[in-house]
Amino acid sequence: MTADAYAAFMGRFSEPLAVQFAEYAEPRAGQRALDVGCGPGALTAQLVARLGAGSVAAIDPSAPFVAATRERFPEVDVRSGGAEDLPFPDDGFDLALAQLVVHFMTDPVAGLREMARVTRPGGVVAACVWDHAGDGGPLSSFWRAVSEMDPDAHDESGLAGAREGHLVELCEEAGLQDIEATTLTVTVPFTSVDDWWEPFTMGVGPAGAHVAGLDQAGKDELRDRCARLLPAAPFEIAASTWSVRARP
Ligand SMILES: C[S@@+](CC[C@H](N)C(=O)[O-])C[C@H]1O[C@@H](n2cnc3c(N)ncnc32)[C@H](O)[C@@H]1O
Repeated sequence: MTADAYAAFMGRFSEPLAVQFAEYAEPRAGQRALDVGCGPGALTAQLVARLGAGSVAAIDPSAPFVAATRERFPEVDVRSGGAEDLPFPDDGFDLALAQLVVHFMTDPVAGLREMARVTRPGGVVAACVWDHAGDGGPLSSFWRAVSEMDPDAHDESGLAGAREGHLVELCEEAGLQDIEATTLTVTVPFTSVDDWWEPFTMGVGPAGAHVAGLDQAGKDELRDRCARLLPAAPFEIAASTWSVRARP
């Protein structure tokens, strides 16, 4: 998946979310932060703006995303790797943040435990995941239309952290302390159904993979069903995350 395709699909939501999520984590001048699962750098940008590039590190297992974040922020220490085995020493950061990543981790508890390990005592570990289970995520109209067409299709509601309270449970299992939960909501404008639909055809994430697996008639039917579920254009889509903030 290219960084451009990601930006057109999820970046429209994750860029404004990063503003809120960075504020939620309360970084202060002089602190060091790690962006886990940085993608093309939506949250990295917010951390750089608040702390300076030299105080921010980022990591992602996707080579194109690592390259895109390195190009965007040459002074940020951008590594290749997963949350479950972070290549950083103990207690090296004041904050370790994962925006829209826990649900893609192979082992979410191990990933959160690693985030705690690299964060100093008293620092902040924070994570957020779309409310896919409560129909409050950015893709809820899409997955509703998919289930109308194919009740057996797998949506993203069962993923780690995507249902109310589950991120808190994962943090508890990872041994985090002082866990607080909230929801963060962004509102994204779309000019037309095509403006909304086009990014789904770029093969990004589980939704893009689902579209890519349909023949042309299936794609046309799914687009029509989505159009019937969406508000009249131009419209806005509100999307909410379950978010947690905790101490290592
Ligand atoms: C939905 S994107 C979020 C990217 C970015 N944080 C943002 O908000 O735009 C999910 C990211 O998690 C990364 N990812 C997948 N598995 C991961 C893992 N085990 N550890 C860390 N990141 C992972 C993906 O490569 C992808 O960049």
